[in-house]
Amino acid sequence: SIDISSFTRQTGYTALDQGFVNTAATKSAITYIDGDQGILRYRGYGIEDIAANSTYLEVAWLLIYGNLPSPSELEAFEERVRRHTLLHEDLRRFFDALPHNAHPMSVLSSAVSALSTFYEDSLSVHDPEQVELSTIRLLAKLPVIAAYAHKKSLGQAFLYPDNSLSFTDNFLKLNFGNMAEPYEVNPVVSRALERLLILHEDHEQNASTSTVRLVGSTEANMFASISAGINALYGPLHGGANEAVLKMLGEIKASGESVEKFVERVKNKEDGIRLMGFGHRVYKNFDPRAKLVKESADEVLKALGVQDDLLDIAKELEAVALADDYFIERKLYPNVDFYTGVIYKAMGFPPRMFTVLFAIGRLPGWIAHWREMNEDKATKIGRPQQLYTGAPARDWPAR
Ligand code: ACO
Repeated sequence: SIDISSFTRQTGYTALDQGFVNTAATKSAITYIDGDQGILRYRGYGIEDIAANSTYLEVAWLLIYGNLPSPSELEAFEERVRRHTLLHEDLRRFFDALPHNAHPMSVLSSAVSALSTFYEDSLSVHDPEQVELSTIRLLAKLPVIAAYAHKKSLGQAFLYPDNSLSFTDNFLKLNFGNMAEPYEVNPVVSRALERLLILHEDHEQNASTSTVRLVGSTEANMFASISAGINALYGPLHGGANEAVLKMLGEIKASGESVEKFVERVKNKEDGIRLMGFGHRVYKNFDPRAKLVKESADEVLKALGVQDDLLDIAKELEAVALADDYFIERKLYPNVDFYTGVIYKAMGFPPRMFTVLFAIGRLPGWIAHWREMNEDKATKIGRPQQLYTGAPARDWPAR
């Protein structure tokens, strides 16, 4: 790699790199990806080992603080997060002001932005204790906000967090429990969800993480920066792809169109359609997360006794695409989003919640990057250059 930070100043030239295909905006010690080999590591640990052995909060610690926690460190961390799960009562009422049919991602980003108004005592970006408090608050409150976004869309009452439960079990209860009857967590669902969240925890400089860093580089507080990241994640070319995949599979099923015909239309770029859940800027061999998610899809649906035609359509689509020159030449493989929707659906989440689940997964990565950026003395405000293509200087018309 070459450092071109002073290239423009020294040469007078500006390097154009649309979509940052070639240009690194930062150094980072958090996540390593080798897109040609299909390798993903958090802080040096392979994603396969992490997914098999860890919990969401343990991985959050690893990403944020750099090493695995000791058992006592993890216990104290879990306890601290548990103590911050309650939302301010006014923040609970904040949801009342939003329309019931609002997309849960919009609700999520609005409520996270509103955290800046409720928790002014942790907005300093220079005070390590406040940064720590914001970290804990976000980890504790985002799942609660997410579950309230879900409950609101259903018109159901919000539950208070149950701090006797683990992080994931509590989240499931907040989403699927109700006031009228006891809720029993299904361990298969809980472990599968935790595994999916872990697989999403970080992915180096993707669009939403870059957004968090860019906003954070202005010294905006952590809540404001992460709210911006949630909005970046919303788009169908990024986190919104998991919802878009399920929509695509549902449309194929409803129309009765063959998978081969649909793939033909994708290849002809008819109406600009893409095979959602396929392709990645970095992975040009396979996405190691997609492999793990596909295994989960089979296991979870089997364990829950769910038979879903959409899973069969997804598998058929994958097989047809992977054998097709269009996809082979462009190195397009299933990404993490291709099979997640089918699993979330089997768990009982509506499609509009899928990207919200991604956001909960990605939160520790966003926090880790925000903190790394904030602690790095070399950080400068993010301010891309442009190549101006507009009108030359013009005289103001005489009137
Ligand atoms: N279906 C059909 N064609 C595709 C797809 C796709 N999913 N993805 C890329 N292509 C084609 C493009 O049309 C282009 O073809 P061309 O050379 O004939 O013009 C070529 O492959 C290269 O595509 P780019 O858009 O330049 O690739 P880029 O790296 O910019 O985009 C992206 C990556 C956005 C992920 C893209 O593959 C895509 O749109 N995929 C579908 C949406 C999706 O699944 N997003 C989730 C990404 S993973 C995540 O955020 C968690």
